[in-house]
This record gives sequence, C-alpha cells and structure tokens, in this order.
Amino acid sequence: HMHIISMKEFTRDMIDHVLEVAEEMEPIARSKSSSDLLKGKVLGVLFFEPSTRTRMSFEAAMMRLGGEVLSLGSVDASSVAKGETLADTIRVVAGYSNAIVLRHPMEGAARLASEFSAVPILNAGDGAGHHPTQTFLDLYTIKRESHLEGLKVALAGDLKYGRTVHSLCYALSLYGAEITLVSPPELSMPSEIIEDLKKKNIKVIEESSIEDAIQDVEVLYMTRIQKERFPDPAEYQKVANRLQITPEVLKNAKKNLRIMHPLPRTNEITPQVDKTAHASYFDQSFYGVPIRMALLCLVMGCLNE
Ligand code: CP
Repeated sequence: HMHIISMKEFTRDMIDHVLEVAEEMEPIARSKSSSDLLKGKVLGVLFFEPSTRTRMSFEAAMMRLGGEVLSLGSVDASSVAKGETLADTIRVVAGYSNAIVLRHPMEGAARLASEFSAVPILNAGDGAGHHPTQTFLDLYTIKRESHLEGLKVALAGDLKYGRTVHSLCYALSLYGAEITLVSPPELSMPSEIIEDLKKKNIKVIEESSIEDAIQDVEVLYMTRIQKERFPDPAEYQKVANRLQITPEVLKNAKKNLRIMHPLPRTNEITPQVDKTAHASYFDQSFYGVPIRMALLCLVMGCLNE
C-alpha cells in the first residue's frame, strides 16, 4: 500500500503530481458538488487528539468523492478506554475500511499503525512528529498565493513541538527555499532538522526579532505555541505571548507578504490582521479539502494513470 506517513518519503515529482490533482479537485470542493470517484469506499477516521480542520476536511473530501466515512467517535466511548492497543485497533478498523486517517499524541504512531494495517494509513499528526497532509495543503496555498521555487519564507512560533513546520521544512527544501526561523530560544527547531536542511544546501537563518525577519520574506508561516506538549505548565507560561503578529508588526513587511497559519490560533495573530491583504490562513484551511481529495484518490487508486 501507499501510506502517507512523513514528507521525507516524497520526491518533488510526487508532490507536484498531488498539487496538480488537487487543482483538478478544487472546482468540486469550491462549488460544493460531488463526484463518484470513491463511490463504495469507506474511510476509517481515528482521531485520538482534538481536531477541527484535519478531521472535517478529510470527511468533506471523502464525501465530495462519493465515499463514506466511518468514525471511532470519542475515544472514551471506544474500547481504547478499556486498554486496547493501537496495533489491535488498527488491525480491526482496517477490516472495516479502505483507508484509515489517524491522529495520535504519540510520535511514530502512524508508522507503527502502517505496520499493522491491511489498508493505507494517512498520518493526520503524530504528537510533535509530522503532519504531512497539512504540508501538502500548505504547499498548495504557497503555490496559489505566492510561488514555490526559491521561496523566501519565515517559520515562526513553536518550532520545537510544531509538527506542521517540521513536515513543511522537508518539503520546502525540495524547492530551494531560503528559510528564516523565529522562535523563543526554548522552542527552536530540532537540530537534526536544521542539519538535514543544511545537507541539502538550504540557507537557514535564525532570527530573534519577528519585525526583522518579515522585512525580506514572501511568506510568514506562524504557528501556535503547542501548550499540550509542554511537560511543565510553568515552562509554557514563560513562552506564551512571546510572539504576536499585529498590523503594527507588519509595518515594514513586503506588500506581497502572505501570512499563513495551520490554525487553530490562540493570540499569535490578532483579529485586526485578518482584514489585511496579507492574511491567507482561512483560504489555506479551505485548501485542505481539494488536497485531501487528491490524497484520498492517490492512496485508494481512483486516478486513471
Ligand atoms: N491545522 C490543523 O491540523 O488543525 P486541526 O487541529 O483543527 O485539525
């Protein structure tokens, strides 16, 4: 099977293909119509952590392709509450479905699931690890609203625990990006990821001031401080509210700066920014539907090629 576990497994050609398929899907998503490409197929939906966008855009994507969704519902109401292992849950749900989308708090959960699954696994976030389907929609947004090749981009916020930026770095490195990292020192990008980028000759700049970082970039990718990943709540309080995008902060930004955010946000982008021409984060969340339509088609083989 083709599983979607990490961006590290995708070549530029494979990514470009997914983005092209998503472009074909976008009119269906935008017009809120449907097709029958996945008629008769069932998507198993296993979310062991909260979600709005990822879960609902996967479900919307499956429905717009004529397929059906089968959800675990609340973890508390399932046999996970009785102590059933992830491996056993996956083996069982694979018997009921044609593919499984999985979000789990444990890093490596999706990889583990793929070892026990008779159907494709789509990683919808594994702890502080990876969130590859988010990266596909991020790339789609960048392609639509800016450009991918040689992009000047700043990644800001929680670069330590933020799985979306971990996955995004690997993908951007395939397009020769110049990457500026902005975070409190306690939340900097894991050194192994920075080393991987440097091995690919990607220029990585570490910057402490958000105002300085945004003067020269075309995309600012902001992230939420991942409160739920902090072992000690006192450590979270030290970094909460450290970075915030306001219209004032954007005074020296390039006119064509695009601000992205995987959402949900807390207070790192103030609502006043939503009205500016820089704000791309709600368009970005919409692109989750055509991208996930493309990915579901890819793993369940509904494309004629
Ligand atoms: N971007 C994202 O993963 O959002 P949700 O947690 O709401 O799915």
